[in-house]
Formats: sequence, structure tokens, C-alpha cells
Amino acid sequence: MNKTVLITGCSSGIGRETALRFQCEGWNVIATMRTPTNEQELVELPNVICPALDVTQEATIRRAIAEALAKFGQIDVVVNNAGYGLIGPFETFSADQINRQFQTNVLGLMSVTREMLPHFRRQRSGLFINVASFAGRSIFPLYSVYHASKWAVEGFCDSLQYEVSSHGIQVKIIEPGLVKTEFWGRSTDRENRTGVNDYDEKSRPVLDLIDDVAGLFATKPCDVAETIWKAANDSSNRLRYIVGVDAHATLLARKVLTDGLYRSIMKTAFSRPSVSMLQKVSEKLKKAVN
Ligand SMILES: NC(=O)c1ccc[n+]([C@@H]2O[C@H](COP(=O)([O-])OP(=O)(O)OC[C@H]3O[C@@H](n4cnc5c(N)ncnc54)[C@H](OP(=O)(O)O)[C@@H]3O)[C@@H](O)[C@H]2O)c1
Repeated sequence: MNKTVLITGCSSGIGRETALRFQCEGWNVIATMRTPTNEQELVELPNVICPALDVTQEATIRRAIAEALAKFGQIDVVVNNAGYGLIGPFETFSADQINRQFQTNVLGLMSVTREMLPHFRRQRSGLFINVASFAGRSIFPLYSVYHASKWAVEGFCDSLQYEVSSHGIQVKIIEPGLVKTEFWGRSTDRENRTGVNDYDEKSRPVLDLIDDVAGLFATKPCDVAETIWKAANDSSNRLRYIVGVDAHATLLARKVLTDGLYRSIMKTAFSRPSVSMLQKVSEKLKKAVN
């Protein structure tokens, strides 16, 4: 019997590539998304269904799981991927923006996990592959709320694995570095809702620089999909899978450097002279690439 995977956030980026990767290997794919009425490609593929699922709406999670079980009888792997970034100076965000970031990246992932656990427990097997980020174990300036959400995902998964393993259930964490997806476009919330603009002079060049770096060096979403595919099939009990040279380098630095040294490197890298120097370098690289 074909295996079945349920994936959240399949309208674009990592979720979409993951759906395509599993489908081409002959798996049944439940490619969930908030607005399946806009989907044209995935719905046409054999063994793929695209139920509506908004991770912040528990009724949609229950309906999507029920539809999947009715169609395929069993779910073997869940990829908790849906998420986005709230990025900028903390004081510029409203409480609503901060709530929404946690409702989606943390509580949404927990809701899907909670709804799936009874099913996995009954079948005495199941694998959660949760897309966190290198931002879940490292720190950059101006990402405070996003970091907090991804650090929460890491802590949740790392602890959850102990209590579910005796029921035959596994948890794996994917930690991509920068990836070329809609995350850098429509999936980022950078809106200043409080009107506080005292941070602008320092924060704008840093955010522009990070965008430039992402535009130039980010890995492809299919590379993350490939790692998710391997994580689903390697039969190991490995917990973390890092994707991308930037993620490997940053997480190694975070591991071996003291807090003080890591912080002073970050402060130097994001100081005004370094940022303007790095921006000049990235301008040159952009010209060379184009
Ligand atoms: N791109 C990166 O550099 C990077 C690096 C590390 C980790 N990540 C993580 O990778 C995951 C996927 O992001 P991506 O890079 O592939 O970006 P993306 O192309 O913007 O995809 C994000 C997906 O999440 C969905 N989504 C957002 N809110 C949702 C909700 N409430 N319910 C269900 N789906 C929702 C979006 O759906 P809609 O179309 O409906 O908005 C979209 O399908 C995220 O968890 C992100 O934090 C990304």
C-alpha cells in the first residue's frame, strides 16, 4: 500500500516542493492549504488531494484529516510546514501581529500535532516532520518575535519526542537556512502598526541587507524538500536536519562560541560601517549576477 503524507502550507515554497517530491515517489499526498480554490497544478496530479486547512482554525484541521482518512485510510507522515515571518523592531508591532505570529508558527503546529496524535497512537506509528529554522537555535537582530516562535517550536519538538516514542511515534525537526520562497515577499509581515519610527534609521539598512543576502545566497526550496524526503525515509531516530551552508555555519558558530563572542560578532556584522560595506559588496554581486 502507498504511504500517505499530510503537509501544511502547500500553496508555495517549501510545502509545495515537498508535496511534489513525495508525489513523484508514488506517495499519496494531502497537500493542504488555506485557499485550495486558487490551486491549479497540485489538484491535477494523481494521488493528491488539496483540502482547505488553516492552522489557526481547528475545525479546518479536523475536516482535512477526516477527508484524508476517508480517501487514503491512513496517514503515515505529517509535515508541519505552514509559517511566516514577523520581522522588524519589536516595539513597532501591535499585540495582534505578535499573537498571529504565535497562532500560526507555534500554536498552529501544535493544533495539527494534537489532532493527529490519536490517529498515530491508534496505528502505533507515525512521523511528525516539523519545519523550524536555523532561526530556532541562533539569533539575528530584528527577528525577535520570529526567533521566539521558532525557538518555541524547537523546544516543543525536542520534549514531545520523549512522550510519544513509546507509542511508535517519531518527531523530526528541519532547520533550513535562507530559502528562496515567498517568505521574503508576501509571507513577511513588516508593517509598523504602532507608528514608532525611532528605530528606522538603524533597522532599515540591516533589513535591506538581509533581503539582499537572501536574494543572492538563499538555497532552493527543492533542497529543503529533498531533506524532508530523506528524513521521512532514512529510518533513523535522528532529531535535527540542517539545510544550507549558511545554516550549518551559523549553528556551528552558535554551538562553539561563547554568548559574549557570538554577540560581539553579530554586533560588528550589523554595525553601521559593516552594513554599508556589505551593502556595497552585495550591490556589486547583484550586478555581476544580472
Ligand atoms: N524561506 C526561508 O528562508 C525559511 C527559512 C527557514 C525556515 N522557513 C520556514 O519554512 C516554512 C515555509 O515557508 P516558505 O519559506 O516555504 O514560505 P512561503 O512560500 O511563504 O510558504 C509559506 C506557506 O505557509 C502558509 N501559511 C501561512 N499561514 C498559514 C496558516 N495560518 N494556515 C495554513 N497555512 C499557512 C502559506 O499559505 P498562504 O498562501 O495561504 O499564505 C504558504 O503556503 C515556514 O514555517 C518558514 O518559517 C523558511
